[in-house]
Amino acid sequence: MSVETGVFERYSEGAQTQQADLCCPVDYDRELLAILPQEIIDKDYGCGDPSRYVKKGDIVLDLGSGSGKICYMAAQLVGKSGKVIGVDMNDDMLGLARKYQAKMAEKIGSDRVAFVKGQIQDLALDLQALDAHLAENPIHSSQDVISLRTWQEQQRTENPLIKDSSIDLVISNCVLNLVHDSDKEKLIKEIFRVTKPGGRVAIADIVSDEFVPAHMKKDQKLWSGCISGALQEHAFLEAFVNAGFVAVAYDKWASEPWQVVEDIEFRSVTITAIKPKEEMAQDRGHAVIYRGPYSEVYDDDGYAYFKGIRMAVSDKMYALLTSGAYGEDFIGIEPAEDFATCPWNAEPGSLRSTDQTKGSSHKKDPIHISDGCCG
Ligand SMILES: C[S@@+](CC[C@H](N)C(=O)[O-])C[C@H]1O[C@@H](n2cnc3c(N)ncnc32)[C@H](O)[C@@H]1O
Repeated sequence: MSVETGVFERYSEGAQTQQADLCCPVDYDRELLAILPQEIIDKDYGCGDPSRYVKKGDIVLDLGSGSGKICYMAAQLVGKSGKVIGVDMNDDMLGLARKYQAKMAEKIGSDRVAFVKGQIQDLALDLQALDAHLAENPIHSSQDVISLRTWQEQQRTENPLIKDSSIDLVISNCVLNLVHDSDKEKLIKEIFRVTKPGGRVAIADIVSDEFVPAHMKKDQKLWSGCISGALQEHAFLEAFVNAGFVAVAYDKWASEPWQVVEDIEFRSVTITAIKPKEEMAQDRGHAVIYRGPYSEVYDDDGYAYFKGIRMAVSDKMYALLTSGAYGEDFIGIEPAEDFATCPWNAEPGSLRSTDQTKGSSHKKDPIHISDGCCG
């Protein structure tokens, strides 16, 4: 049996009967749970609470939505103008989540949740449409397989289940680890594709402190139980950085492991990240000061920020560092006067002179310490 088949079977069972060994204790917001049906609460197989990151007006995508618990919690937070999409590949789980949709819409005030069928590593392909297509076009030959591939490609382009750059916040609760290792890079690329530029990601999942050996990965029970498919703790963050996300960080980290198997610790974490905006970075004279307490820190592009020193930053990086994505770590300093913009090409570690940032001594023709800028 493949790991995918094992995952299908385990979560079909989980949709029918509560599975005690799939539960990882989580402190959810009781107020948000108050209007949820008990069956949805009981069939909770999450390991964190990504609903904490939802803002009013967000379009939220929940990867591997299961019983729909996080979707129904998020729906209360997005308000009337927001929307929540739960994606799951399992018909039994989708059935369970949809069973309460009308009742929940009434309680919440509008029908702002949709549950769709798809694989999270292939968010462009609508599996409900595929089921309908296969019912009308059954596969009997290799020629049929080739035609199906062409149809799937066309669907991904012309009718994607989740469109490019359409989501404000991608969340997930204990699902990424269930995706086959060979598909994990593709999965994170898909998350990047669907997130709006400037959009956010908050993923609760399980990570391991050491790389998981092959014999554990072949163990169906360990894999479908959210254990042996876990990414190693550094590889998890790195995968998001490699896909192009910025401000990638562990926002939650369980001090106690959830499980220890063969001396490997598996713990619940939540990572947060941002998809950078697409516009070209410009040098307009902005600076930031890293508050400390460390003597220096580096961003994902290798730019250093020294404690207490005015560092030259592009307008794009300035917006990001002072947006709250990096907590309160940076003091933002606007240019005294917005001088002629030019493409950002300063060397990592470039300083910004006080001349460029204090109004009284701002020069009409500023000399940048950061090399190569027009000024
Ligand atoms: C551990 S449960 C978590 C469910 C839910 N997020 C929660 O908090 O209770 C995993 C869910 O992800 C779904 N799932 C697993 N792999 C998936 C994949 N590759 N694509 C879509 N759904 C997947 C399963 O069907 C199941 O509903």
